[in-house]
Amino acid sequence: MSSVSPATTPQAAQREVASCREDFPALHQQINGHPLVYLDSAASSQQPAVVIDAIAEYQRHAHANVHRGVHTLSHRATDLYEGARDDIAAFLNAASRREIVFTSGTTEGINLVAQSFCRPKLAAGQRIVISHLEHHSNIVPWQLVCEQTGAELVVAPINERGEVLLDELYDLLDERVTLLAISHVSNALGTVLPLGEIISTAHRRNIPVLVDGAQAAPHLALDMQTLDADFYALSGHKMFGPTGIGVLYAKEQLLDAMPPWKGGGDMILEVRFSGTVYNELPYKFEAGTPNIAGAAGLGATVRYLNKFGMERIASHEKDLLDYLTSSLQKLDGIRLFGTAANKASVQSFLIDDIHPHDLGTILDHQGIAIRTGHHCAMPVMEFFGLPGTARASLGMYNNRDDVDRLIGGLSKAAELFR
Ligand code: ALA
Repeated sequence: MSSVSPATTPQAAQREVASCREDFPALHQQINGHPLVYLDSAASSQQPAVVIDAIAEYQRHAHANVHRGVHTLSHRATDLYEGARDDIAAFLNAASRREIVFTSGTTEGINLVAQSFCRPKLAAGQRIVISHLEHHSNIVPWQLVCEQTGAELVVAPINERGEVLLDELYDLLDERVTLLAISHVSNALGTVLPLGEIISTAHRRNIPVLVDGAQAAPHLALDMQTLDADFYALSGHKMFGPTGIGVLYAKEQLLDAMPPWKGGGDMILEVRFSGTVYNELPYKFEAGTPNIAGAAGLGATVRYLNKFGMERIASHEKDLLDYLTSSLQKLDGIRLFGTAANKASVQSFLIDDIHPHDLGTILDHQGIAIRTGHHCAMPVMEFFGLPGTARASLGMYNNRDDVDRLIGGLSKAAELFR
C-alpha cells in the first residue's frame, strides 16, 4: 500500500495523495486496448484493495448475523459492524455514535428524513425548500412527501455559473418551511455551496436543514459539529467504498423524536400484538439484517481516507480540477457548464454540437471513462436548455496524465466530427 508521511508543502501533499493510485486494482487494467483513465468517480468511485480485502475477510471469516448470536462469528460480525459505526462517527466528527444510521445510500437517507421527520409535520400550506441544482435523489423524495401531505415543494433558483442565488433562497425561508434540503456539492456542476452561511440563516429562522453530501464526502473534510446540519446523507460508493451502504447523520434529539420509518427485526426492544417498543438509537432506524459487509467495507474506507487526511485530498483535487478546467478551456468549440467560484471535482462540458454520448463512446474506445447524459439532474440540464452534457469527474487517484489523456481523446473526437 502507498505510504503517507507528514508532507511539508502542498505540492508534496498532492504527490503523496496521487501515489494512492497504486492501491486501486481497478485502475490498473486495459480497456479497449488502452490503459484505463477513470474520470467517472462522481457516478461511482473505485475502491482501494484494503476495502476489497476488508469485505472479503468479513465474508470468509466473520459472516454471521449481528446483535443476535452468542457465538463467535456473530460477535465478530457485530464488532466489525459497530466498529465501522465508531470510525464513521469519528470521520464525521459526530457528537455521538447514536447519530450514525446505516442506510443503503444517500437516496435512502433522504427518503428516511422525508417520511419519518417531515411527513408527520407536513400539511397543505407548508413547504419544503430545495435548490435548482439538486440531484433527483434530493427532489423526488420531496415530491412524494408533498403529494402525500398536500405540502408544496419550492425551488431556489441558480445562475449561469451554477451557483444558488442566496438572496432568493433566503427570501423563501419563512415560517411555512418545514425543512431546507440542499446539496453540499452539485454532482452535475461541481458547485460547492456555502453551507455554513446557509445553515445558520435557516437556523435563525428555526428551519432544520438536510444536506445531500453524496458528492462532498469523497472530496472535502467534514465536521458535523461545526457544520451544524441537522441531517447529512452520504453514500459509500461515491467515497471509494462499496455500493449498497451509506450513512444518514442526524442530530440525536431529532432522531429521538422521530418515529421509525421501516419496521422489522433489530429495530425493536419488545414486540407484542398489543404494541411494540422500539430500540434505542440508532437501531430504531435499522430494521432487518443490515448490510454488514458494506459497513465493514465503509469502515475500512474511512480509515483509508484518514491515512491521507481529507484536507490533503481536497488540496490535490483542487489543483487537478484547475488543471482539468484550464486544459478543457484550450479546446476549440468547448463550452463549460458549472463555472462557480467554489467548485469540487467535476467539470461538465460540450464540444461544438457533438452529442455527449458520441463523445463518451469515442473516449471509451480510447480507454477513457466519463459520464454523459443528464447526470440524474434533469432540472439542471433544463436550466441550460440541454438534454445532457459530458462530465469528467475526479477522485483522489487521478493525476495530470489522466487529464492529458482526456484532452487528447477529446481532440481526436472533435477531429472525427469536423
Ligand atoms: N448521481 C450519480 C452521478 O452523478 C449517478 O453520476
